[in-house]
Amino acid sequence: MSSEVPQIENNAILACTVSRDVQNFDLLIEDMETALGENWGDLGFAESLAFFGQPEAGALEFLALAIDEKDEDNLVMLGEVITQAKARGIKVILIAEDVSPVSLHQLLRKGADEFIPYPLPEMELQQAIERLRAQEAGARERHDTPQLQSGESREGAVIVVQGLAGGSGATTLAVNLAWELALIDGDKHPSVCLIDLDLQFGSVGTYLDLPRRETVFEMLADTENMDEEVFGQALLNFKERLQVLTAPTDLVPLDIIDAEDVQRVIDLARSHFDYVVIDMPSTLVVWSETVLQAAHVYFATIELDMRSAQNILRLKRALQSEDLPFNKLRFALNRAPKFTDLSSKSRVKRMGESLGISIDLQLPDGGKAVMQGADHGSPLAISAAKNPLRKEIAKLAQSLHELGRNEAEAA
Ligand SMILES: Nc1ncnc2c1ncn2[C@@H]1O[C@H](COP(=O)(O)OP(=O)(O)O)[C@@H](O)[C@H]1O
Ligand SMILES: [Mg+2]
Repeated sequence: MSSEVPQIENNAILACTVSRDVQNFDLLIEDMETALGENWGDLGFAESLAFFGQPEAGALEFLALAIDEKDEDNLVMLGEVITQAKARGIKVILIAEDVSPVSLHQLLRKGADEFIPYPLPEMELQQAIERLRAQEAGARERHDTPQLQSGESREGAVIVVQGLAGGSGATTLAVNLAWELALIDGDKHPSVCLIDLDLQFGSVGTYLDLPRRETVFEMLADTENMDEEVFGQALLNFKERLQVLTAPTDLVPLDIIDAEDVQRVIDLARSHFDYVVIDMPSTLVVWSETVLQAAHVYFATIELDMRSAQNILRLKRALQSEDLPFNKLRFALNRAPKFTDLSSKSRVKRMGESLGISIDLQLPDGGKAVMQGADHGSPLAISAAKNPLRKEIAKLAQSLHELGRNEAEAA
């Protein structure tokens, strides 16, 4: 993990051996110690699957999956370990003793990154780790700048999130929704671009542990000369699935960009991605209207409190006085009360009625795990896959995706 903020404690687990019994692989134990000191752990097969659900799993660099011929009966589970690891951006080194070529082949096809026979040849593990790290560094270095094809003409859907009160979960929703959209399976994963337009205090980069980049400012300051290459270079790749435009490095005045700049960025992003997810500042800015008009779906996150209620009223008045489409806003109540909490349920209903809005989406409180995941730089699907908030956002991603597909078919 890169970052200005020290996030890895000294005892962080960077890698794990995964095997039936690691004592069968004593050379591996030695090599892991040489390579990682104390910063590795040991898991069984089923145990490793459970571990992927923990926030600590987000910090894992790789797994050393060690198997012998007795494990060949267990290929399905081994395959699942590899699939789950890869889905979380964790690399897999497969170490095998007396395993048939057919089984090996099957596991490599699941996406294992490296294969080493056991007993381990001298330095072989170390070299495999170095290759994985070089790959990762290369990806960061190139910033895995997506090769945007010039002249491509998709018409991506624009999904916007704005918090109507600080801390109401806008960025959490934007980041996780973008990631869930990127995870959707199908003939091919949708391509997703996440744009942090909360230029001053944007935290998308923090929540995904991505560095802020100088090129972002340069691009925004001169959108007239922005082309695919410039735009591509300002993007950062998150786990090969999601392209992210973070906020600029330094605190910039919100008016360094105007409506035209924003329009250009959105147009370019739309032409290259199936989904463009935008995290807005909670304040109104000169280009708010542009984003509102460009949005296919515009979520406003609120909470069940007076602050949100008053801000909704203010925003309603402001938008309506300018003839802007207030009813385009989809209100998302964050930290929504549980089903069983009837008195809060009726408060939600009254809040909606008295403000003349419908609250379309309710997001449950996901507890501390939500903040912890974000501090680790991981979306919930990685840090806390079973979290109720994650489940709700995953559902939302699915339904937005299906909606888009139905509309495309109808057209
Ligand atoms: N539903 C939720 N359950 C638990 N914690 C949440 C939830 N939504 C947001 N948080 C936490 O609240 C804090 C503020 O969320 P954030 O998304 O940054 O808000 P905003 O972007 O609206 O200012 C973060 O620490 C985040 O992890
Ligand atoms: Mg935010």
